Amino acid sequence: MENLESLKAEILAAIAQAQDLKAWDEARVAALGKKGKVTELMKGMGALPVEQKIEMGKKLNVLKAEIEQALENRRNELAEKEMNEKLAKETIDVTLPIRDEVQGRIHPVSKIYEEVVAIFGEMGFEVAEGPDIEDQFHNFNALNMPANHPARQMQDTFYIPNKNSDDFDDSYVVRTHTSPVQIRTMESKKPPIRIIAPGRTYRSDYDATHTPMFHQVEGLVIDKNITMAHLKGCLYDFVKAFFELDEIPVRYRPSYFPFTEPSAEMDIGCLKTKSELKIGAGTDWLEILGCGMVHPNVLRAGGIDPDEYQGFAFGMGIDRLAMLKYGIPDLRTFFESDVRWLKHYGFNPLDFSSMTGGLSNNGGSAR
Ligand code: PHE
Repeated sequence: MENLESLKAEILAAIAQAQDLKAWDEARVAALGKKGKVTELMKGMGALPVEQKIEMGKKLNVLKAEIEQALENRRNELAEKEMNEKLAKETIDVTLPIRDEVQGRIHPVSKIYEEVVAIFGEMGFEVAEGPDIEDQFHNFNALNMPANHPARQMQDTFYIPNKNSDDFDDSYVVRTHTSPVQIRTMESKKPPIRIIAPGRTYRSDYDATHTPMFHQVEGLVIDKNITMAHLKGCLYDFVKAFFELDEIPVRYRPSYFPFTEPSAEMDIGCLKTKSELKIGAGTDWLEILGCGMVHPNVLRAGGIDPDEYQGFAFGMGIDRLAMLKYGIPDLRTFFESDVRWLKHYGFNPLDFSSMTGGLSNNGGSAR
């Protein structure tokens, strides 16, 4: 048995001498690896008579535990040593000034997103989200558009096959609008509800004012006694804040959406000349969003009793708002990732949008 003691001393010494993780691993393999010294001894036990086998087994287990402990301690020491060396080597001089040419720009879509969230946040709205890939229930059915409803053709939908079903009704879609978030919100929250849902939306369309992927913000308010007057007041306050004008003519035109009744489109007054579009004055009108009172069928689909609760909803295109507010002529350029474009139309990352500190910081940005 003395040789067990000397074996132990030998192994522990090898572990203590290991100066890096590679040497440490060699010491580990030499002792406990498949062909390691301790492993060999354990294998050899089979040939011993029972009494000795029990005694030897106990001793080897104790030895093994001691070695494992020593290995772990040494590994921790080595890891700490390595980390300290690394930290000493990788110093960064945080006092160096940043290089001008690497400063990024905030994309106009992100800027408008921040502005819209700042305005509605001030009014007490929360931001809600839903998935880009939707099922047809949330994108259509629950929004009062059952299968074969003609309104489904209003939106050129991209469908995604469902691997688990051949039935077309089970296929997924990339959401054609942010309205499915209305349903998801009703499913997960009890009224009163006051949310906006910004995000990506998709339709098969491509020209100067349409891209297959674009952005919308949805708005939804549900409570007892909500009326169209609330809708009008809320959206009027929004457009004034958004275009940073004290007054702005607005009008509501009757319209149709399956998920609202009555439905309307909101126009703002503007002046269109050959070279310019001036918002807030003049004799022309510009459509900026769709809205209406939430249809009772939609409330029911979301598990809300329409006899007790009413609501209003609206949806608008973020990219379109960006084009209008910042005079960007072609929507396709938004998604071409051209840094020259971003330098020209983008915003200073340090100019936050807030209702108190200024929304667009037009003067302060690089534009
Ligand atoms: N989802 C509609 C669209 O994409 C917009 C909308 C939202 C209209 C909510 C009314 C209420 O055109």
